[in-house]
Amino acid sequence: MTETANSGAQRQTWTSNRGFILAAIGSAVGLGNIWRFPGVAYDSGGGAFLIPYLIALVTAGLPILFLDYAIGQRFRGAAPLALRRLAKRAEVIGWFQTMLLFIISVYYAAVIAWALSYFYFSFGNKWGEDTATFFVSDYLKASEPGVSTELVAGVAWPLALVWVVIIVILALGIANGVEKVNVIGIPLLILGFGALVIRAVTLPGASDGLNALFTPDWGALTDLNVWIAAYSQIFFSMSIAFGIMIAYSSFQRRRANMTSSGLVVGFANSSFEILAGIGVFSALGFLAHQEGVRFDQLEGLTGPILSFVTFPAVISEMPGSTVFGVLFFGSLVIAGFTSLVSLVVGVSIAVQEKFGLSQRTAAVVVGVVSAVVSFSLFATTTGLFTLDTVDQYANNIGVVLSAIVMTVTVVWIAREGDLLRRHLNAISTFKLGRWWLLLIGVVGPIFLTVMLVQKVISLIN
Ligand code: PHE
Repeated sequence: MTETANSGAQRQTWTSNRGFILAAIGSAVGLGNIWRFPGVAYDSGGGAFLIPYLIALVTAGLPILFLDYAIGQRFRGAAPLALRRLAKRAEVIGWFQTMLLFIISVYYAAVIAWALSYFYFSFGNKWGEDTATFFVSDYLKASEPGVSTELVAGVAWPLALVWVVIIVILALGIANGVEKVNVIGIPLLILGFGALVIRAVTLPGASDGLNALFTPDWGALTDLNVWIAAYSQIFFSMSIAFGIMIAYSSFQRRRANMTSSGLVVGFANSSFEILAGIGVFSALGFLAHQEGVRFDQLEGLTGPILSFVTFPAVISEMPGSTVFGVLFFGSLVIAGFTSLVSLVVGVSIAVQEKFGLSQRTAAVVVGVVSAVVSFSLFATTTGLFTLDTVDQYANNIGVVLSAIVMTVTVVWIAREGDLLRRHLNAISTFKLGRWWLLLIGVVGPIFLTVMLVQKVISLIN
């Protein structure tokens, strides 16, 4: 038996394939789907954006998802360990991915904390008439937005709660903690969010919002930045090339059918994303209708402002607003939380394996360190405004770099691409042909390198 086979023998596993699929969907479906996708699509060509988006899904999203799965399931470790087993020097790629996870998790937690307080504010529309003032000055207690660095009292308690619950779940382990949260959370999310979308599309003005979102601007297709936006969205949204899916599939049974699960996860994630676009833009169309303005005069259609300023305004206009508010912020909390769990799992298992810690110790150490950083950076007013910058670097540059280096290492340096392909084919019903190697070894790296260079140039200028 090989070293890998031995040390994997007592590794904890998901209780069922269904558990793994739900956890993988839980990781993929998150804030990225609800607040990132609709705005990105709107800014990047509307309906025409679906073309680069689908191309990114098929040429990079699914192929790299399969690669993550294969590495994790075969080499049985979080990214640093699994990649080291693949090729000694590849461990550093794993740590790079782990660093990205850490960076994302500290701001992601803060956003969930905001969503949690807004969940509470939904009862009775506590944000009042002027939702912008409420968010920036009353709730965040900022005299001048972007200047004050004081700890924001309003977000401190929810943030503490988020981190405590995360530590408890991680300490409970994969089957009893992570899997349980997703098995309960994901069906709840689908029901709640589904109800929300149905309500949104039946509001007056909804069709204006949908037209604004889906009317194609074909000219966008010649803009390289639109393509970069599509690939970044796919990576972030599917949680791929971050090491998360490596960690999650390292807890999969050895004989589990991976490629078919990957298709289910990818399809579910993109469907949810498009559903979210429909729901969010219908609601925005309704807002324009209520305020008697043209759709293109609306502002704040993406990111924190969309969720915490524009959406509360939508909700206040709505008959039966409490239910709608509770559904919207409840969905953000659940979707975000199941993704945050995966982000922290990625970091904590990596640390656990590196230092030979117990799962509990690793959960507490990683949880406490992340919470402290999360508090000091993001529970301040400026934190809110730094978020965009962090997103630029971690998600547009960091993950693309990680994907290029990982695929080139596997296929050309370690030359393990075909081994992984045969590994997946031996256990899966959806077989990967040699086209898969072509995608991850040639097409992907070339495409991604062009995009990365362009992005870096545009940031320098
Ligand atoms: N996929 C999650 C989302 O769409 C975010 C995420 C990114 C989670 C990377 C894990 C790793 O919000």
